[in-house]
Amino acid sequence: MQNNDDGFNRVTAFPEISGSVQWRSPSNIALVKYWGKRKGQIPENPSISITLKKSHTETLLGYSPAKGQSGILTGFSLDRRELPAFKERIDRYLSQIGDLYPFLKDFDLTISSTNSFPHSSGIASSASALSAIALCVTSMERMLFSSPSDDYSFFRKASYAARIGSGSAARSVYPGYVLWGSAAEIPHSANEYAVPLNDNIHAEFKDMGDAILIVDESPKPVSSSKGHSLMESNPWATVRYRQAEMHTGRLIEVLAAGDAEEFVRIVEKEAMTLHSLMMSSYPGYILLKPGTLQIIEKVRQFRLDTRVPLAFTLDAGPNVHLIYPARFRESVKNLIEQQLVVHCSKGRWIDDNTGEGPVEITESDS
Ligand code: DP6
Repeated sequence: MQNNDDGFNRVTAFPEISGSVQWRSPSNIALVKYWGKRKGQIPENPSISITLKKSHTETLLGYSPAKGQSGILTGFSLDRRELPAFKERIDRYLSQIGDLYPFLKDFDLTISSTNSFPHSSGIASSASALSAIALCVTSMERMLFSSPSDDYSFFRKASYAARIGSGSAARSVYPGYVLWGSAAEIPHSANEYAVPLNDNIHAEFKDMGDAILIVDESPKPVSSSKGHSLMESNPWATVRYRQAEMHTGRLIEVLAAGDAEEFVRIVEKEAMTLHSLMMSSYPGYILLKPGTLQIIEKVRQFRLDTRVPLAFTLDAGPNVHLIYPARFRESVKNLIEQQLVVHCSKGRWIDDNTGEGPVEITESDS
């Protein structure tokens, strides 16, 4: 094995090496949304997310010397099901990162993943799933070549590679608050990978809850990829990207200052903007359900009545994420149980919170 002059690790002799690596990688929820991208998975604007704890994917990547001229994905399962459509996507992904990890073509690979959240819960799994695979492949590289040698380079490369699979996955390799995309306020931020944002966070915002209310579990009628591409002809696109840049800068200040009122204002404006962009695309579409709107109204009334800084946010779907400083957990839980579960499909919600980021699972853990 050797590290070539061009910086890429290549296998110099056909390796007689088999093994496996395993990672658990979390999902994340965006506070400032990524919606619109350019060629090469470059976001049109910076985004900020919170990494979650309970909602995660566990992925085991097995490798053995390629039996043919080039390695292939010989097995794939998600939640112990084979799912050919997913296998195709992962196959495509592995070839897209082939230049970054040239040794992959010397191995046959098997991937088996399990999600901690139910398959039909409507939770976007691409962030946790693609980040878990990117971490496994980067671990495999480290195992074969002892590089990337330090954690800083390891996670940066994993974030870069995760981005290629799914933009939001770039943010899942770090704990707490994470920024993806170039932002004037953060000198080392970049469009190609995410950076952690945890150095200057006020005590009020260090430990956050995210109650995920499952309003509807049906598969999304319009994919995120389609939604991103509709932004290319959206009449509000330029203004939107400017707004997201402003929200990014302002949210960074607000997180440092502990300004809960402003936090709620930005987070909710982002959620409303995301869905208004879907409605104002051509063709326009609506992913909100009546239950989503009823929850939003009740959350706003609860905030007026109690002054608890509880913010709602939305993904590209009808489910509602309630974001709040964790010290308000009891009152938020009461609100959910007394007033909001009626709007949840089968009464389902997930009591999640800020997480410590991905973990490698070693033999001694399993
Ligand atoms: C609304 O990361 O799923 O959740 O890059 O095409 O895989 P692809 O898109 P994806 O888009 C996420 C959109 C969002 C907002 C966000 O997470 O920032």
